[in-house]
Amino acid sequence: MGKTILITGGAGFIGSHVVRLFVNKYPQYKIVNLDALTYAGNLENLRDVENAPNYEFVKGDITDGDFIQKLFADYTFDGVLHLAAESHVDRSIANPMEFIMTNIVGTVNLLNAARHAWDGNFEDKRFYHISTDEVYGSLGDTGFFTEETAYDPRSPYSASKASSDHLVRAYFHTYKLPVVLSNCSNNYGPNQFPEKLIPLAINNIENNRPIPIYGKGENIRDWLYVVDHARAIDVVYHQGVLGETYNIGGNNEWTNIDLIHVLCEVMDKKLGREPGTSAKLITFVKDRAGHDLRYAIDATKIKNDLDWEPSLQFPEGIERTVEWYLNNKEWMINITSGTYQEYYDKQYTER
Ligand code: NAD
Ligand code: DAU
Repeated sequence: MGKTILITGGAGFIGSHVVRLFVNKYPQYKIVNLDALTYAGNLENLRDVENAPNYEFVKGDITDGDFIQKLFADYTFDGVLHLAAESHVDRSIANPMEFIMTNIVGTVNLLNAARHAWDGNFEDKRFYHISTDEVYGSLGDTGFFTEETAYDPRSPYSASKASSDHLVRAYFHTYKLPVVLSNCSNNYGPNQFPEKLIPLAINNIENNRPIPIYGKGENIRDWLYVVDHARAIDVVYHQGVLGETYNIGGNNEWTNIDLIHVLCEVMDKKLGREPGTSAKLITFVKDRAGHDLRYAIDATKIKNDLDWEPSLQFPEGIERTVEWYLNNKEWMINITSGTYQEYYDKQYTER
């Protein structure tokens, strides 16, 4: 009999790529996408699969415990892939409480509902919690985050994700809930909300607006193409060992300023502008509070144990990403036309 799988946050950036992969690759599964459609959730991301016979969308909020209990009573879920979250560090600095509610309370609501619905009958059941490398804190010039690295979250966002990771592991040890976790580095690619560095810069370059770089642009991130992350999530969900954590990364570190220079070159080429035109838009602005210097993932475990590694190299990934945004201007216009401008003005004009 086919399995019914709940994916939370499926209308968001990474979630929509995971939903697409699962709906297309596993026609025998029924995929239920639960999403509150916050500012970051967008059903436009899923137009190509919305009529698939094995797909269903449910609008709902994971912070509503009664609703979540009822959902688990109405459906018989065999598995949960939990991606719903407040995900933007700058917003967590401005308003931590939403992060506490969704990332911590929302996760516990799902854990409780799974625990009660499965009622000790855990065979073939699985609760997969998708998390971030930011829980490990900030690296200096050397070293990598492994699965053994001690947690040291330093923003309200990463502290809320760290808290949820601990709770997921606590349910494994205390109640034997069949969980698996992964912690991934920065994703980039189609459908990312333009509050994040790469789509924000693409949008601003296209519209000849300043590209805001925090501090001196020396902070380092490890970038992974989102479709490769979705592939890794598929592998961890199906083959990951219960109770284990897998670090996922792109082996692709860039300082923000170098990354933006590459992006500017690609944008000049795609927009037919003179080389160097877009780079003139680079503007250094006040740094992010508590800005983590460097994240870098050691992804040896997932490579050795589950045979996953990134398939796409960065030059091709960034070209594909730019092409997607330039070919999907309506998508960008639609999501930047509403309250986005209020957020943008508060974040960048009032700095
Ligand atoms: P996103 O902000 O693009 O999407 C989050 C989704 O969750 C949205 O569709 C939103 O509507 C939904 N959501 C938010 N609050 C909700 C609530 N209370 N109830 C139900 N749905 C709610 O996020 P993303 O970048 O796609 O990240 C997805 C997950 O992956 C998050 O858990 C994040 O911590 C993790 N992650 C992200 C990255 C990255 O680089 N973006 C890297 C590693 C891990
Ligand atoms: O590492 C994984 C994390 O990556 C995820 O858990 C988060 O959900 C995701 O948002 C991302 O967090 P970052 O804070 O690293 O991503 P962001 O795109 O916001 O910023 C990337 C870097 O660029 C960071 O050093 C801050 C900087 N930056 C960001 C913005 C939005 C700028 O210099 N200017 C900007 O305008």
